[in-house]
Amino acid sequence: MSAVELAILGATPAFEQPLPVGQLYFPEWSAYEQAMRGIFERQYYTNQGPLTQQLEQVLQERLGVRHAICVTNATIGLLMAADALGLRGKVITPAFSFIATSQSLTWAGLEPLFCDVDPLTHQLDPVLVEALLEDNDVSAILAVNLWGDVCAQDQLRELADRRGVPLYYDSAHAFGCAVQGRAVGNFGALEVFSFHATKVLSAAEGGCVCTNDDELAARLRNIRSSYGAGHPVHVSRTANGRMSEAQAAIALLSLNSFAQTLERNRGIFAAYRDALAGLPGLRLIEPQAVSTTNYQYVVCEIDAERFGLSRDELQAVLRAENVLARRYFYPGIHRCTPYDELYPEAAERLPVTEALCAKVLQLPIGQPVDVAGARRIGQIIRAAQEQAASVRHSLGGRA
Ligand SMILES: Cc1ncc(COP(=O)(O)O)c(C=O)c1O
Repeated sequence: MSAVELAILGATPAFEQPLPVGQLYFPEWSAYEQAMRGIFERQYYTNQGPLTQQLEQVLQERLGVRHAICVTNATIGLLMAADALGLRGKVITPAFSFIATSQSLTWAGLEPLFCDVDPLTHQLDPVLVEALLEDNDVSAILAVNLWGDVCAQDQLRELADRRGVPLYYDSAHAFGCAVQGRAVGNFGALEVFSFHATKVLSAAEGGCVCTNDDELAARLRNIRSSYGAGHPVHVSRTANGRMSEAQAAIALLSLNSFAQTLERNRGIFAAYRDALAGLPGLRLIEPQAVSTTNYQYVVCEIDAERFGLSRDELQAVLRAENVLARRYFYPGIHRCTPYDELYPEAAERLPVTEALCAKVLQLPIGQPVDVAGARRIGQIIRAAQEQAASVRHSLGGRA
């Protein structure tokens, strides 16, 4: 019998404070105060202020990309991207993603054409993309680089080129990753990063569209600001996608600590890898196609039969310990408004997405947890498996 007593069975929770799954970088208060003082002294809140310009410059140099266009958040960045690319009709995209991926298409008047993903990597499956490209209404591929890993980029690029449609990336999870030494941000017609508080690079809320295409960049800059910052070019619509100086200040501080953030993540991930090794029915998803990962998320698959508890039962065990493990992504986008009504048949075409949505579980990484915490969470998961019958009984069918 395991020495770990579980909170779900009446013991004291392992953690006093709740542990969320996001990265949650916070700068030192003194550094934040100094950055805010600068904004007050300059009396400049927003619209391509000096900090936003500095951030764009630093990002361009760091990523080796011609244009880094900072925006309010990645959702707006994706929406602007669809407009700047001049898309129409349908766009091939995974339903196994955060809903913002597809919503950006819907807001741009486009139709997501959902494609299934690879069961091992969770990334878009190029074989299925190829079949969907036979639809003449398809005007682009919007692939998602998930979990600090990337898609089968060479295959996707070859397919997009052959069919003559743009390939662009939702890289919300992939800032700081590289493929054969080349920074993510340089692939596809453009890539969109999220600098949300849960991401490895944080502006609290924020994002960035990267491209090596000068004309596309000019259009994106014009769409970003209805006040017309930058060299004017014709665009059919404009918006407010501006990043504020307060956001840029946090992003610059987050960039200064980025090497430490990755080092910390690497240690936590390694601790989970050790602690969860050999557990029947639990598979830790390891980034495969990148030469450098950011360990944005720790994602496990729980096979209920082999593990002895379902993903939802294990989540209930962890939540009782104040570990806010998340079912991300759940449900699949095709089961969310408005897509459930628009495409009721989609679930049949997406068996891998359906299966993953029932078994993925995210564990905490980033600032909220440390190596000892990750080991402890591993012990709790092990104990939950050993005490599966009691856990099931105590849950009484609730999870
Ligand atoms: C895959 C993916 N795309 C897009 C987004 C949206 O990013 P933002 O919150 O910056 O709009 C997220 C956010 O979590 C995401 O996970």
